[in-house]
Amino acid sequence: MSIIFHESTSVFHLYNEEISYIMMVLKNGHMGQLYFGKRIHDKEDFTYLFENYSRAMGSHVFEGEKSLSLEHTKQEYGVYGNTDYRQPAVEVLQNNGSRISDFKYQGFSVVQGKPKLSGLPATYTEEDGEAETLFLTLKDPVTGLLLKLSYTIFARGGVIARNAYFENEGEESLHLTTAMSLCMDLPDYDYEWIQFSGAWSRERHEKIRKLEQGIQSVGSRRGHSSHEHNPFVILKRPTADEFQGEAIGFSLVYSGNFLAQAEVDTHGSTRMLMGIHPDGFDWKMEKGESFQTPEAVMVYTDKGLNHLSQTYHKLYQRRLARGYWRDKARPILINNWEATYFDFTEERIVEIAKKAKECGVELFVLDDGWFGQRSSDQAGLGDWVANRKRLPQGIEGLAERISSLGMKFGLWFEPEMVNKDSDLYRAHPDWILQTPGRTNSHGRFQHVLDFSRKEVVDAIYEMMSNILGNAKISYVKWDMNRSITECFSAALPADRQGEVFHRYILGVYDLYERLTSRFPEILFESCASGGARFDPGILYYAPQGWTSDDTDAVERLKIQYGTSYCYPVSSMGSHVSVSPNHQLNRETPLYTRANVAYFGTFGYELDLNKLTEEEQEEVKKQIAFMKEYRELFQFGTFYRLSSPFENNVTAWMSVSEDKKTAIVGWYRVLNSVNSSYTRLKLCGLLEDAEYTIEGQKGAFFGDELMNLGILTSDATAGEAQEGQVKGCDFDSRLYILKAK
Ligand code: DGJ
Repeated sequence: MSIIFHESTSVFHLYNEEISYIMMVLKNGHMGQLYFGKRIHDKEDFTYLFENYSRAMGSHVFEGEKSLSLEHTKQEYGVYGNTDYRQPAVEVLQNNGSRISDFKYQGFSVVQGKPKLSGLPATYTEEDGEAETLFLTLKDPVTGLLLKLSYTIFARGGVIARNAYFENEGEESLHLTTAMSLCMDLPDYDYEWIQFSGAWSRERHEKIRKLEQGIQSVGSRRGHSSHEHNPFVILKRPTADEFQGEAIGFSLVYSGNFLAQAEVDTHGSTRMLMGIHPDGFDWKMEKGESFQTPEAVMVYTDKGLNHLSQTYHKLYQRRLARGYWRDKARPILINNWEATYFDFTEERIVEIAKKAKECGVELFVLDDGWFGQRSSDQAGLGDWVANRKRLPQGIEGLAERISSLGMKFGLWFEPEMVNKDSDLYRAHPDWILQTPGRTNSHGRFQHVLDFSRKEVVDAIYEMMSNILGNAKISYVKWDMNRSITECFSAALPADRQGEVFHRYILGVYDLYERLTSRFPEILFESCASGGARFDPGILYYAPQGWTSDDTDAVERLKIQYGTSYCYPVSSMGSHVSVSPNHQLNRETPLYTRANVAYFGTFGYELDLNKLTEEEQEEVKKQIAFMKEYRELFQFGTFYRLSSPFENNVTAWMSVSEDKKTAIVGWYRVLNSVNSSYTRLKLCGLLEDAEYTIEGQKGAFFGDELMNLGILTSDATAGEAQEGQVKGCDFDSRLYILKAK
């Protein structure tokens, strides 16, 4: 990996074995973008890539010549209004009302590794030689606003991590009203845009469309990254697929309001922007103050979408997630939410835990309803003290009982919220986000605490630390069940109200940081009504997240498949729940529910006492199986093989690091009669190794399995004979491969 500056041409070339990223200082001092793609040779002069033919109606920077029109120039951090008309990376509102800025190159520096971003989650390095970071310093001469663009290139993988830092070195205050983490102009628009969108219980469904002239974007203005859209998009060449071809991923390490946007201009260039959503964003900068954007992580591949995802998986698993649990196989848990909802007593909880222990479960998680006056969703949030009517011995007593069964104990919190019917709200009615004189709309009868205020975060930290420090707690489920409305902080002046959404998320990160530092061995699982904040920002603090409230195995195929485009299997909370399923009333076989949940952190979301003895025996086998293979499921190289968004059959697989063991998951939604013979081509195996497949005779070479595939047809492909395997709806199989 290298970062080279060619002084004679003012060209920067960042490269490693996979990628090249090339920029140059333009004649007017702005930064021009020349190339991002597969690694090419370095050389002194790439300036021929700067193309600027004079075009009719173009506006030009230099008096008396037509040599530079920013509108027609591919840039690194575009501004609006001085010859460029596209959406900008930055906009600065000045005291005279102007929004024009003109950031001019001043110099650069290169540092080994990757400096931390203060107060924000970001990828990191652990050892020397893992990465280098280039800082480009630019300055707007009129306002004195300094801009530092940061580019980290990692030694391995096609990754460039970017962010922008501002410092007001001028005399007057100003307002940053747009400050993107990433802006990059690509030379053409021959791409398909892939976004991961949905709603509650159907998160991160893959949606694909061709880029066209104009703007296409996804984003959130809800105060959290949202069920509706994920801060991750892919641009792929139309001919690229899972296994080959060019694609670029754009991922924002952030959990609040975001925008991901592609603007295709009249001449076919594509401007990608990614960062905090500019709508409503207004960050005041007094003289001397600074502002740091979140990080955006770009990945380029020419080897297809699986390779793109695997690059993100490795990076986010090992160099974004942190802490004690980062590299550890995750405990198999049982959560009481779908078993009891709010209706439980200590005895009932212990009953569920005992049976779970008998089946081999390692961790019991007590969900919502254990605190304050919380007997429904209408009261109690904010009062993080055990409800003694339900739990006579408090959390300490219950945790002790669970631990004496030989299980770990975990607890649910929703730290950012308060019900009006709570002691916390009665004591501090001004602690919620609310606009004076306006309705304060609720979501699920709850209001959002003003986490932009340190005293609010401090108070919640105290309450949570008190519980976590005094009971044997090994796991926390951190939930968040509503979007923000009437966003306004009583603690900030009028000209800083545009900061509240971002300050709120900084408060969330602060609480996470304090709790994870004080309780380093507690496993944190994030949740936001399922997957409304399943993003890289939260992954920095919580190495796993509840992927969705939808626990139906068939629905989960799409949700987990879509999630896997950016996020590793080790981050996806996935449980076996009851059939008929609570969200869809669908009945699915117990083995299919487990076969889907294995490709995640794995657990149960039901009362095992209510299963038949036969089913309980099956559960015991599932748990024993998961204990044997969980490292492979969670940390293996994951390949998507057949998409639920296109096919009746979904398939994916995980391959061990040495490629000698692999597990393939095969899932068929509806059975069909007299259907075709089918084969499934595998990936990532050793070509020359011979593999056995559990339950099948003979052995198969890796190249055989990868080129002709495994036979997946069953008796439904033909006339069923006695003794043949017969398929059914919602059927599934696992193929376990081992090299001889
Ligand atoms: C929403 C979560 O996604 C559920 O798993 C559960 O924890 C409920 N909240 C509890 O209120």
